[in-house]
Amino acid sequence: MVKPFIIGTRNSGQFLHAGAEILRNGGTALDAVEAATRLVELNPNDTSVGLGGIPNILGVQEMDASLMCGKTMNTGSVGALKGFKHPISVARKVLDEAPHVLLVGAGAEHFARVMDCETGDLETEESVKVYKAFVNDAFEHEGIDESQAWAVNYARSQNLRDWYDRLADERHGTVNIVAIDENGDIASAVSTSGTALKFPGRLGDSPIIGAGNYCDNRYGAATCTGRGELAIRNSTARTIIHYMEEGLSAKDAASRAMKDIHALKAFGSMNCIVFDAKGNTTSATTRPDRESVHWYMDMESKEPEKRVGINVNPPVNHDE
Ligand code: GLY
Repeated sequence: MVKPFIIGTRNSGQFLHAGAEILRNGGTALDAVEAATRLVELNPNDTSVGLGGIPNILGVQEMDASLMCGKTMNTGSVGALKGFKHPISVARKVLDEAPHVLLVGAGAEHFARVMDCETGDLETEESVKVYKAFVNDAFEHEGIDESQAWAVNYARSQNLRDWYDRLADERHGTVNIVAIDENGDIASAVSTSGTALKFPGRLGDSPIIGAGNYCDNRYGAATCTGRGELAIRNSTARTIIHYMEEGLSAKDAASRAMKDIHALKAFGSMNCIVFDAKGNTTSATTRPDRESVHWYMDMESKEPEKRVGINVNPPVNHDE
């Protein structure tokens, strides 16, 4: 039997204490990953998750989050959610209470209100400052009209795809947390405010089960950060689980999925954290220039342990 543990991606793993405490007291992996994610969502200094997330191109913060239970294979996701303090807990309500698996926008907000989820203003001085700086920089001479058509025209004026490539390479971030409890049950959680200055209504991989989040008690867990469009195109999280089902180790499965991302020959990077049902953990990135890190805590840990994963570099093109 694998001993309970929790791994995650951000803030030197400090938020993992909340999840580890739940596991230590015999709680479920699902409760542990939700509790740890809530702490990251409350961190105002994390500008791509929850409070302080950089808004979309219209200045509105839109959150994506998802949870999966590897025992029941139940899932809950929310996308483009506005005005709720803990998107991950709204996703938990979808998992526990809704007959659906994914709610977005006004429908998700309606559901969250009915479920008495905590509302909140997620703006911080920094998130407002970043948005104002963008508006001043982009529209110093033009101003912004009420129709909001300027948002599309602005992006189009710079070539829509180039504009998004620049944003998506530099301005994104996501929290990934996955855990296994004393019953051998696995859970995975993902939360993000998505790409900063994105188009309203844009969903990344975080709320898409199979793209940014997947787990299965039989094989393990996989979650993603990076340019969500790539993980959606490759169903990256589900594919990693599939590779482990086919017999690859966690490390080889993660590596192969990152090679699949390179094969898209698309701009942007992808990262994942993974563990298999034996408790082997790993992380991987398509970036050659950045260390792939995940943080680990089990029941004996006093502090999160830094674990370095693998860089899966782009193939060399000898024709160039
Ligand atoms: N991976 C997070 C996003 O693309 O929104």
